[in-house]
Amino acid sequence: MNARAPLYQARYGSPDAPTPTAGSPVIDHLLAHRSVRAYLPDPVSDDTLTAIMAAAQSAASSSNLHAWSVVAVRDPARKARLAELAGDQEHIRQAPVLLVWLADLARLHDVATRVGESAAALDYLEMFEVGVIDAALAAQNAVTAAESLGLGTVYIGAMRNRPEDVAAELQLPPRVVAVFGLCVGTPDPRHPAAVKPRPPQSVVLHQETYSLPAQQPGLAEYDSAMSTFYASQGMKVRGTWSHHSAKRIRDADSLSGRDRLVEALRKLGFGLR
Ligand SMILES: Cc1cc2nc3c(=O)[nH]c(=O)nc-3n(C[C@H](O)[C@H](O)[C@H](O)COP(=O)(O)O)c2cc1C
Repeated sequence: MNARAPLYQARYGSPDAPTPTAGSPVIDHLLAHRSVRAYLPDPVSDDTLTAIMAAAQSAASSSNLHAWSVVAVRDPARKARLAELAGDQEHIRQAPVLLVWLADLARLHDVATRVGESAAALDYLEMFEVGVIDAALAAQNAVTAAESLGLGTVYIGAMRNRPEDVAAELQLPPRVVAVFGLCVGTPDPRHPAAVKPRPPQSVVLHQETYSLPAQQPGLAEYDSAMSTFYASQGMKVRGTWSHHSAKRIRDADSLSGRDRLVEALRKLGFGLR
């Protein structure tokens, strides 16, 4: 058996998951990712954060514009307030540091003003998207770097539940908004996180042209793999992954306040034209 087979079996939640002959330590590391929601109180040092940030900044950036920033929050009181704004998630309080990843067009506005340009393009949806993409790519590099140092992470999309309140807490200027948070810390070994299966590649990888029908068998396999995963983790999920996911997108109320994101973004200085 290929020594890497267990990694692929865990990633796809299937003993039949194919194991490619191509492989590397980096891919092995990526395959072992799992979100961590229980942390020890051990601090994340400035030295460690410097290494993680260098990895984050090594991500590609649209037109080399660097339209993102991060606020590192360690103050327990501020973390608690942000936890409250993000659906009261306990792991935000527990993690020694919360990194809040920002789409940041304020710096570019400032740069343009200083060199006498108008920066009118910042008022378009495209530039907001550039900021979000840049932030996401940098954050994922940070996740990989943190995990390589033995740390655990979990993204916090709920940081978008109340964008204006988060902006006030972090003293964000106009044209800057939190895209998501990221808890970082030493995983608590008493609550180990498991590798969560992904859909078979037939669901996400298309050859030449896109097809929805071609995904159906893989989706059925995924429902089954996720049901096994829920049971193994003692998670009380009603129905299959399909049911669970459909519920998550049922109506505006299922967006936990994010249904008014466009309005919030406009208030925070994004034109979104
Ligand atoms: C952008 C983004 C936002 C997320 N927001 C949250 C969140 O608010 N709370 C949480 O516990 N997990 C959050 N997650 C973690 C996902 O639930 C998790 O990545 C997914 O279930 C897959 O599990 P895994 O990361 O362990 O493989 C988020 C993930 C992403 C990518």
